[in-house]
Amino acid sequence: MNKIDELRQEIENIFDNVDNMKKLNELKVEYLGKKGKITELNSVIKTLPNDEKKSFGMKVNEVKVLFNSKYEEKRNIFEEEEVNKRLESEKIDVTLPSTKIKRGSKHPMSLTIERIEDLFVSMGYDVVSGPELESDEYCFERLNLPKGHPARDMQDSFYITNDYLLRTQTSSMQARYMVESGGNKPIRIIVPGKTYRREDDATHAPQFSQIEGLVIDKKENNISLADLKGTLEIFVKEMLGDNLKLRFRPSYFPFTEPSYEVDVTCFKCHGKGCNLCSQTGWIEVFAAGMVHPNVLRMNGYDPDVWGGFAFGPGWDRITMFRYGIPDIRLMYQNDVRFLEQFDRKDVD
Ligand code: DAH
Repeated sequence: MNKIDELRQEIENIFDNVDNMKKLNELKVEYLGKKGKITELNSVIKTLPNDEKKSFGMKVNEVKVLFNSKYEEKRNIFEEEEVNKRLESEKIDVTLPSTKIKRGSKHPMSLTIERIEDLFVSMGYDVVSGPELESDEYCFERLNLPKGHPARDMQDSFYITNDYLLRTQTSSMQARYMVESGGNKPIRIIVPGKTYRREDDATHAPQFSQIEGLVIDKKENNISLADLKGTLEIFVKEMLGDNLKLRFRPSYFPFTEPSYEVDVTCFKCHGKGCNLCSQTGWIEVFAAGMVHPNVLRMNGYDPDVWGGFAFGPGWDRITMFRYGIPDIRLMYQNDVRFLEQFDRKDVD
């Protein structure tokens, strides 16, 4: 019995020096393990006379309960300390600046066409697209360029079969749209799209992009060269800057008559002459003209009743001018260092 009381005394104090979980567990083994001090008391029970067994057993149990409650008490303290430590080390400071998420940016060609589309839609145009794999018929013949026509040479082409090629110009949609419109409706469209030719240098890529414009209306509505000029002037103002002059140079295209190449005052030197404009003060931006009667006729519009104009700026060229991009190939290489310079939403 004395031994039990000693043990009880011991248990009362022994936990005071325990300052971590490891020591606590060692203590458990020391007292309640297979050969633990409390466990061993159980084997004493057998040796006692019957009338003492019960009260001894109860005392052993009491000591065990005491040990366990002390043990639990300590364990709770350690666990709480552990949780507090973790909370402290994993604390999130919501006021810290966040890690920067890099957002993509729009391609300069997309930025350009969005602006152009908005402009033309505001003037009542529809934006349409057509096939890049085009027939010889629509790419050339219906635009007054029969087989063997010398003007075809300027558009050395990627033929897929004798009759099909990668379109060399979005002008092919002039013919398609006229045919689709059935020869009896006015037309006002722009056609942005990819085009292909066998060319490759700093200002020409084998795949490039054009924006075709076509306006057809009844002759009685007097669509004239003045309307074409006005339209291109608005275009230039919106896309390249105010106070730029336009210069119409007579040119030749089989599907327009008269035809023009349209230059704009150099937006870098404002006409003085610089490297961008090869010292001429002018930069060629559009090809344009009044739709040729043959083209109207071939595509279902009576040239005695209908007339109009067409124009075709290079989409890449306009983009290069707008952003001062020196090499067309940059726009097709998908180099992020180049692309992220535009539409910089990721900059704080
Ligand atoms: N499609 C012509 C080319 O790529 C450019 C052109 C000329 C377009 C006259 C037109 C136009 O709409 O009227 O060379």
